[in-house]
Amino acid sequence: IGQNFIKLSSVDSTNNFLKQCLANSEPLTEGTVIMADEQFAGRGQLNSKWLSETGKNLTFSLYLKPHFLPAMHQFYLNIAISNGINRALRDAFGINATIKWPNDIYYENKKIGGVLIENILSGHHIKHSIIGIGLNINQSIFQEELKTKASSLQLILQQRVNILQVLNEICKHIEVEYLKLRSNKLELLTTDYLAHLFKYKLPSLFRINGEEKLGTIVGINEQGNLMLNLDDKISVFGFKELEFIID
Ligand code: BTN
Repeated sequence: IGQNFIKLSSVDSTNNFLKQCLANSEPLTEGTVIMADEQFAGRGQLNSKWLSETGKNLTFSLYLKPHFLPAMHQFYLNIAISNGINRALRDAFGINATIKWPNDIYYENKKIGGVLIENILSGHHIKHSIIGIGLNINQSIFQEELKTKASSLQLILQQRVNILQVLNEICKHIEVEYLKLRSNKLELLTTDYLAHLFKYKLPSLFRINGEEKLGTIVGINEQGNLMLNLDDKISVFGFKELEFIID
């Protein structure tokens, strides 16, 4: 992963760039990484925008071909990627990061990174996977509404961090997790994921159908839905069905 590396100074979105390569039937090697100093139309989950100060953060997309993965198990790819980023931050930088379901990267109560995976299916399998990763590295000033919600490696470690070093560590650790996925070690992947899951087994507030509710995350199912204990009953939620309320 990352052997084939392309660095762009400016692009709309590195995910779009890879999509365009596929649309033009350009040959793409599995493991290709496209990184950009600036994205002028960076995208986040649920049609949100991904904002990142030019040259200060890590924004890249990785191309994988997980042909072996049935579409119904595609969430395990999210798990492998989140685990890889998390391990890189922990092992190489000593940051006690967590994964906020489904695949945000958190430090304490603040978001430091996000993942946008776009899979192209063929029948019941994944044909192409575009994995976009954004991680705040040296940005120290955030716009007003993000101030209490966002952080960066520099703010956490109190020193400048080398962006390419972070990329290198993430690629290394994602490769390890991807090999686990390829050898179908799904339980091991899930155990590691839950071990670092934000608010796992801790009572927390959620907004569900516009209502605030206290619930406790007790697990995820095979489709990657969140299992919550609400009023002593286990309920299952998809990504769009609930929102965390973080103080
Ligand atoms: C999220 O937290 O909502 C996901 C954010 C994903 C951002 C990355 S930055 C590189 C890649 N290109 C994009 O346009 N988005 C992803």
